[in-house]
Amino acid sequence: MGKAHSNAWRNAGAFFDVPAFTQKVLVGRDAAAVAAAAARYGWAESATDWREVIARDDIDIVDICAPGALHAEIAVAALAAGKHVLVEKPLANSLGEANAMVAAAQQARDRGVRSMVGFTYRRVPALALARSLIGGGKLGVIRHVRAAYLQDWLTDDGSPMTWRLRRESAGSGALGDIASHAIDQVQFLLGDSVTEVSGRLHTFVTERPGPHGPEAVTVDDAAWATLSLAGGAVASVEVSRMALGRKNALQIEVFGSKGSLRFDLENPNELYFFDGMDPIKEQGFRRILVTEPEHPYVAAWWPQGHVLGWENSFTHEIRDFLLAVGSGTDPSPSFEDGLAVQRVLAAIEESAAAKSSLIQLAQR
Ligand SMILES: NC(=O)c1ccc[n+]([C@@H]2O[C@H](COP(=O)([O-])OP(=O)(O)OC[C@H]3O[C@@H](n4cnc5c(N)ncnc54)[C@H](O)[C@@H]3O)[C@@H](O)[C@H]2O)c1
Repeated sequence: MGKAHSNAWRNAGAFFDVPAFTQKVLVGRDAAAVAAAAARYGWAESATDWREVIARDDIDIVDICAPGALHAEIAVAALAAGKHVLVEKPLANSLGEANAMVAAAQQARDRGVRSMVGFTYRRVPALALARSLIGGGKLGVIRHVRAAYLQDWLTDDGSPMTWRLRRESAGSGALGDIASHAIDQVQFLLGDSVTEVSGRLHTFVTERPGPHGPEAVTVDDAAWATLSLAGGAVASVEVSRMALGRKNALQIEVFGSKGSLRFDLENPNELYFFDGMDPIKEQGFRRILVTEPEHPYVAAWWPQGHVLGWENSFTHEIRDFLLAVGSGTDPSPSFEDGLAVQRVLAAIEESAAAKSSLIQLAQR
């Protein structure tokens, strides 16, 4: 994410009209490696202690791309120091941390200090378009949603341990990593919130090669859930890092009373729309190539049909963050939105531990 965000910071001002800023300091753990990365990715300096950097007067924004176990600590400290904060998803590794981050964000907001969580897929033009079609009533009443996020990078039993496979550093596995995106999309696209959850988690490979020999995997490899939404819709969520052949397939289908939509991140420029109001003999899924200047974010880039990629949504994220900070408004998604996802993740874990029993979410 350090690379993806650096690319976005470099490009935001080149493609969009945003407030002026300087890429000051890149922070990492290894002095030589972070110095090389800073030089390569356009940062003026590098450092190895984030606390020292947060204490500086010439730093106004902190963008947190560290593993989840560090999100709360860095975000709370940065907000207390008066820095605007963008933090990667999931907001935190636990509900307790997420609640503390929301409290810090609320106090900071009263002092004009802004915060945002990086659910970047909200800024894929096709998904932003999907939201506006749904919000504009094109699909009628939404009945159900299928959201899957499928990857295959853990298929090989011999893949080594990483922080992502240890509960203490990652919080959870595919659940927090990629179901968080799918759940955020369900709530974002429908403009609705989850009220009830049933979930299941599974770890297919329970031990992997660690730095000192075999090590237990303490998170899930795959997760499943059904979600009820306040407005009456039902959503299924299915995520895996062992779906052999699926590389980064965030697949979403939304079925309404008047129309349906489908999207797959492996073809990010395409949105398929079925208009149930068309004469029956002309009905069928219509491919919308989301590269027109009228589509969200697209006018700043290339002519029609000159497709965008995965990285562009991060530039859109930085653009929206900077515009909100510059205009003194709250960017979206907020830490509260991140907490809403975290509550669903916690409920899925609770349900999975209780043989998939239904868990009600307390409404905010
Ligand atoms: N939005 C997305 O699509 C997306 C995709 C991947 C990851 N993420 C999120 O981004 C975050 C990072 O994931 P990643 O895949 O980039 O992980 P990574 O392991 O590739 O990178 C983590 C970085 O954090 C640095 N780091 C760790 N501890 C540090 C410390 N104490 N001080 C300074 N730097 C420290 C590491 O040196 C490393 O450069 C996670 O929260 C993850 O969920 C988001």
